[in-house]
Amino acid sequence: MTVTAVIGSQWGDEGKGKVVDYLAERADYVARFNGGNNAGHTVINEFGTFKIHLVPSGIFARNTVGLIGGGVVIDPSVLIEEIDLLNNAGVGVEGRLWISPRSHLIMPYHKILDGLYEEAKGAGATGTTRRGIGPVFADKVSYNGIRWSDFGSKAFESRLQVQLELKNKIILALGGKTLKYEEVRDTYREYYLRLKPYIRELFSLVQDGLKADKNFLLEQAMGTFLDTDWGTYPFVTASTTIPSAASAGLGIPPRYITNVVGVTKAYTTRVGAGPLPTEIHDTETEVYKKFAETAATTGRTRRVGWLDLEIVKTAVELSGVTELCLTKLDVLSGLDEIQVCTRYELSCDPVRYADVDSYGLEKVETVYKTVPGWQEDISKARSFDNLPTQAKDYVKMIEDAAEVPVKWIGIGPERDATIRR
Ligand code: GDP
Ligand code: IMO
Ligand code: MG
Repeated sequence: MTVTAVIGSQWGDEGKGKVVDYLAERADYVARFNGGNNAGHTVINEFGTFKIHLVPSGIFARNTVGLIGGGVVIDPSVLIEEIDLLNNAGVGVEGRLWISPRSHLIMPYHKILDGLYEEAKGAGATGTTRRGIGPVFADKVSYNGIRWSDFGSKAFESRLQVQLELKNKIILALGGKTLKYEEVRDTYREYYLRLKPYIRELFSLVQDGLKADKNFLLEQAMGTFLDTDWGTYPFVTASTTIPSAASAGLGIPPRYITNVVGVTKAYTTRVGAGPLPTEIHDTETEVYKKFAETAATTGRTRRVGWLDLEIVKTAVELSGVTELCLTKLDVLSGLDEIQVCTRYELSCDPVRYADVDSYGLEKVETVYKTVPGWQEDISKARSFDNLPTQAKDYVKMIEDAAEVPVKWIGIGPERDATIRR
């Protein structure tokens, strides 16, 4: 039995979707345990190109069973669309995708409130995906949430009625458009009926799988530094992202997690507000243009920066990463020199990420090392030995700093554009 958690070691979008799709071949169960459809995981394989928000990215492997754990928050319309998309693409998910009845529903008022709070915060806004993530998790922990299991009794109607009374008052006070009970009730009943065949308690399934020595692949959403507790608060997401979240979010005891794969982009990106110590601000530079990406969920332009080893090291320590997967190494081709942040200083003294808060992180000095780049296109390389010396040295430098091996290297967005060491 193996239980492998795949986590992003930066601020999200490290390439987790691609890596999970690649590793899923050996998995029996592929699971999401945190976050919601704020996630956008890109998968490119023989079925096509997909930006997946809720279904585990390992679902493309024929023999896997997909699980959406109770720790995930679900916008039903997004999930229905995704299931249809996958079924139409020939990735049959019926009978092998299960949604926990414990998972919470993103309601229309969560999305409205997300937008209204962001607007009220003005320049101090988080830059959320506006998918209702903060408000739905706030309702979950303040006992105001609605779960799939509520449809099994009259709880759904009565809970919705109370919530709409409360939420409409807030929406009205903030200048938003109120919602009608009957409309929301009917729409969500329809969603429930559509998704009912997929809803099933996961406890026995997971426990039996663990006892039967099955292999589990756990797909984190967001990255380490968007974690509510350990991320750059308040510029974070509303769920725990570190691997221990899989315990509450899926019902897998922590001691069963055997491997933690830290997915690390060869540079750094971030979407939304908050500190990014190695940020490249000059949008006219060649390197900015090289690194710039479009966000998979919102279509925003991702902020970019050089690789930050202090961040990667902290993620390895915090999440108990056992091996790294370095993605997007191919993007660095063509640079004469590459900057890498090796540590932080504050008032000339060394300082660690965890010693400062988000506002302190804005003030740290990033200490850089300049390493030689390479000109060769490496996207066709399929073995480590075929990489230019400078690219190999870049990989080794990361291993030395992180003190864990780089086991896979991404040299293109497609599943097979991966070097295994
Ligand atoms: P996720 O949220 O962690 O799954 O990452 P995203 O899918 O949001 O963003 C990662 C982006 O990098 C996507 O556009 C992927 O197709 C792309 N990608 C992943 N790995 C590689 C790689 O090794 N090389 C290149 N060029 N692109 C990659
Ligand atoms: P994946 O799984 C990158 C960011 C948002 C915002 C902050 C809070 O694809 O890596 P939220 O909507 O969660 O309340 O927004 O978190 N964010 C992500 N950034 N990748 C993601 O997911 C993200 N999910 C949320 O941009 O800064
Ligand atoms: Mg993403």
